[in-house]
Amino acid sequence: MSLLKVTMLVLMVGESVISSHHDICENCVCRQLTIDCTNNSLKAVPPNIPPNTTILILKDNNIEEIPDYIFNQTSLVSLDISNNNISYLSRNSFYGLETLITLKLQHNRMDFTVSYPDDVFKPLVNLKNLDLSSNLVLSTINESYPNRALRHLKSLQELNIDGIPNLNLGEGFSNLTNLLHLNFSGNCQTSNIYNNTFVPVSHIHELILSQCHLRLIHNSSFGVFTQLRLLDISFNINLGIDRAFRALRSLNSPDLRVLDLSSVVDPFAVGIVISGVNMNQIKHLNITELYFNHNRLELIELEAIPQIPETLQVISVLDNRATYGWYLFGLENLINLVCVDSSQQYSSHDPESHHTPQSSRYVSSFSKSRDNDSTFCQKMNVSSVDLFNINQSNISSLPAGKPLEIENGLHTPALSSLSFNLKNFTISVPPNIKYVNVSKSIINFPIPNMRFGNNSVKLLDMSGNILNRWEGPIGGVTKLEWLSLSNNFCDYINETFFDSFPGLRELFVASNFLAAVFEADVKGNIFHKLQTLETLDISENKIRTLPPALLRGLVNLKKLDLSKNILKAWTLDIDHMKDLRYIDLSTNQLTSLPVQFRNYGDSQYDANKELTVDLSGQTLRCTCDTLPFLKWMKSNKTIFVRRDDYKCEDNKKKELTLSNLDAIILQLERQCASLSVMVTILTGSLFVIASVLIGSLIYRYRWKLRYFYYLTRNRYHKAFPLDDNENTQFEYHAFVSYADEDRLLVTQDMRQKLETEHGLNLCIHHRDFVPGEDIAANILSAVRNSKKTLVLLTKHFLNSYWCIYELNMAKVESISTGRNVIIVIVCERIPANELPEALVQLMRADSYIDYTDDPEGNVVFWANLRRSILAD
Ligand SMILES: *[C@@H]1O[C@H](CO)[C@@H](O)[C@H](O)[C@H]1NC(C)=O
Ligand SMILES: *[C@@H]1O[C@H](CO)[C@@H](O)[C@H](O)[C@H]1NC(C)=O
Ligand SMILES: *[C@@H]1O[C@H](CO)[C@@H](O)[C@H](O)[C@H]1NC(C)=O
Ligand SMILES: *[C@@H]1O[C@H](CO)[C@@H](O)[C@H](O)[C@H]1NC(C)=O
Ligand SMILES: *[C@@H]1O[C@H](CO)[C@@H](O)[C@H](O)[C@H]1NC(C)=O
Ligand SMILES: *[C@@H]1O[C@H](CO)[C@@H](O)[C@H](O)[C@H]1NC(C)=O
Ligand SMILES: *[C@@H]1O[C@H](CO)[C@@H](O)[C@H](O)[C@H]1NC(C)=O
Ligand SMILES: *[C@@H]1O[C@H](CO)[C@@H](O)[C@H](O)[C@H]1NC(C)=O
Ligand SMILES: *[C@@H]1O[C@H](CO)[C@@H](O)[C@H](O)[C@H]1NC(C)=O
Ligand SMILES: *[C@@H]1O[C@H](CO)[C@@H](O)[C@H](O)[C@H]1NC(C)=O
Repeated sequence: MSLLKVTMLVLMVGESVISSHHDICENCVCRQLTIDCTNNSLKAVPPNIPPNTTILILKDNNIEEIPDYIFNQTSLVSLDISNNNISYLSRNSFYGLETLITLKLQHNRMDFTVSYPDDVFKPLVNLKNLDLSSNLVLSTINESYPNRALRHLKSLQELNIDGIPNLNLGEGFSNLTNLLHLNFSGNCQTSNIYNNTFVPVSHIHELILSQCHLRLIHNSSFGVFTQLRLLDISFNINLGIDRAFRALRSLNSPDLRVLDLSSVVDPFAVGIVISGVNMNQIKHLNITELYFNHNRLELIELEAIPQIPETLQVISVLDNRATYGWYLFGLENLINLVCVDSSQQYSSHDPESHHTPQSSRYVSSFSKSRDNDSTFCQKMNVSSVDLFNINQSNISSLPAGKPLEIENGLHTPALSSLSFNLKNFTISVPPNIKYVNVSKSIINFPIPNMRFGNNSVKLLDMSGNILNRWEGPIGGVTKLEWLSLSNNFCDYINETFFDSFPGLRELFVASNFLAAVFEADVKGNIFHKLQTLETLDISENKIRTLPPALLRGLVNLKKLDLSKNILKAWTLDIDHMKDLRYIDLSTNQLTSLPVQFRNYGDSQYDANKELTVDLSGQTLRCTCDTLPFLKWMKSNKTIFVRRDDYKCEDNKKKELTLSNLDAIILQLERQCASLSVMVTILTGSLFVIASVLIGSLIYRYRWKLRYFYYLTRNRYHKAFPLDDNENTQFEYHAFVSYADEDRLLVTQDMRQKLETEHGLNLCIHHRDFVPGEDIAANILSAVRNSKKTLVLLTKHFLNSYWCIYELNMAKVESISTGRNVIIVIVCERIPANELPEALVQLMRADSYIDYTDDPEGNVVFWANLRRSILAD
């Protein structure tokens, strides 16, 4: 029984060992020889680390101890156990780590006096970097360093360790003969530094005392250093400017290059003045970089100016309260100056955030740049500007300069009292300065006509000020390649302002109020001289439309940013730009791109040049109208950034995603094809309807049309001289309209009775029509020239084409002249339903006479007829 239990136990243990061996890569990320167990809620160092592992990352866990021999037989090079819950190390915690180079133990709970057994670091013969910072527990106030543990770290080059209140570096530090970089920031509680404090480490290259709580530094404390290159005493707000400078007097390391004095005064102190005495303390230093950020600096005394070390290449004074005065004219002597960052003057401080300053950021950039003093400025290379987050939304860390601060002086008491004529005044600038940042500094005035002296300024960031009118022209900016005037509340640019920037390659004028300025520039004069320009950013200017010629001069443009405007249509002419690669049209109100644009894209493609367009952030249109645009997009000749995220709207306002562009196009093609069939059918039927309508109108008015046709025709025809005068005598009393079959009645009775007996003059077609003339013309002429038209109504009459014709002509005549023309003589009874409508109407109006053969009636008939003919 018990034997079984034991066996099972053994089996289980065996299993768990085996599984835990595999587990390490199940819970952690194993990449080649790296095992990353970050944030894995580990309570202990995982056992059985594969012996070939070189990098082991155990940070952000809850490990409480490092057991003896746990790393035996591994060949780790880097071990990170930071941010755990380790409160002590064992004597053999690091046994077997002869290969280790980097050890990170920061953010644990190790106490200097009790946590470090004397020989704990003894195996680490190759350790170069050790981080023990942020372990100090504030309650244990009388700390001293674990000198007996540290002394073994013969190879150590970089040590990060908390500054204890009494910074007493003992023999352990003096044994670190290879130490170069000593950093006490982290949880630094050091307030006083004495003249012997750094004696054990006098050979180090970099000393960082940032974010300690320094109050006092004895005058000769830094005098012991012989090879110091970088000294950082930033963010010690209780130090004060005078004590900070005084401490530097004793520095005489010939290699000192970087000095960081940022935030050494209370963030809410009244304005700070750098006096001549202050500057005198550092004038002997051959420093190349001086950081004096966040110091409430308002003024530099005139006497201080000539004492500024001429070796300076970088000056950073961001986030101060600089007031500009005469002293600025001395800066032209700083012939080595390359970068100046004077941005964020007068910015307001967040009391919460200021006590957790970003000094570590500086520290790391210093460390990297210590071998090459100008690295910082070299990175300010115009083309790699992005590395430094100098984009338009986040211009914060760009080095900056002085020249333009002089203009700023116009509105400060110091300079406004000067009586020089600015228009003819050349502003001196340090001759080699390349990178200048005066952004976000509440500089507030219209940019006047001004000229700079000989200078090399390549990059100038004036964004985020209140330079609200750009009048210019500006002289002396011949080397300028990168200029930002974004975010300046500007609503006016003189057409000559940009005329004198011969080498400008990148121009940012985003986030202003320039819509009206651009809209008015129909001739394209503002930018036309910027022929070297490659990047133009006019985003966020509330632009609705742009004149086609606006960019006419920009033949070398590569990148155009029009994003965040309210453009509804693409109107610009860009055909002259041969190298355009990127057009940002995101966040506008475009629905598609016109054919000119598409042709441009295709021509670039044909020329083997890649054009990329960003149309995100707006709802395009997916309808039959935009189908050619969508097809063009699909062709991929022009590249669209994040095309799959684009949205479009169909004609039913339904939102579609362009990720299924193919399907959308297919759908539209079908829809639009059926639409065009429908359009054809509709047009066709419309045509038919119109023809029918016109036809029926013609039919309906056929008599009138004929009447007027012949009327007009006759009027120009000498055969029928027509007199329009209504009152003239008619040529005939009556025109007799009859069918040939009834000819007898006419030739015998009618002629005899009416012509011979009653003396009337009849028009009878076979006798009186003009021979050789069109019969229709003759008929009209007869109707017009006769007082009445007699209609001999018989069956034959109804069957005769010409009779009906005559009847209708007579009818139109009576309508158009208003006289009573027609007299119907009913010769035989015809049922009403066989009579034409026109005749029925006439006979309803009662104007007809019945013909009769009976002799008595006959006499009455002829008498009546005569009366009717003569009546009006
Ligand atoms: C660590 O992991 C937890 C959950 O496992 C997560 O909530 C937390 O955000 C992670 N922390 C970090 C810094 O990744
Ligand atoms: C490391 O060793 C483990 C066994 O301990 C092996 O499975 C793995 O393939 C090795 N990795 C490399 C990259 O050699
Ligand atoms: C270290 O590992 C080796 C090989 O596995 C072994 O021989 C040695 O005893 C181990 N040392 C200790 C102190 O465990
Ligand atoms: C750290 O370890 C101590 C015991 O040494 C324990 O009391 C504490 O809860 C642990 N803290 C965390 C965050 O696990
Ligand atoms: C440390 O330096 C002292 C002299 O300052 C020397 O006596 C001692 O041997 C050194 N210790 C080691 C471990 O090198
Ligand atoms: C440090 O100052 C003390 C007096 O405060 C002086 O006695 C001592 O010689 C000085 N040491 C050095 C190294 O300057
Ligand atoms: C700075 O350089 C000058 C001239 O090269 C030299 O005389 C001076 O000693 C240097 N200063 C320091 C502190 O090394
Ligand atoms: C500008 O200054 C130059 C000399 O510096 C002088 O010759 C010229 O007349 C001045 N022009 C004006 C308009 O004052
Ligand atoms: C633009 O500047 C020129 C030269 O400074 C000036 O003559 C012109 O009047 C200005 N134009 C406008 C519209 O103000
Ligand atoms: C265009 O590119 C997309 C992916 O970007 C691809 O899915 C599609 O097939 C391409 N179309 C053509 C016609 O090359």
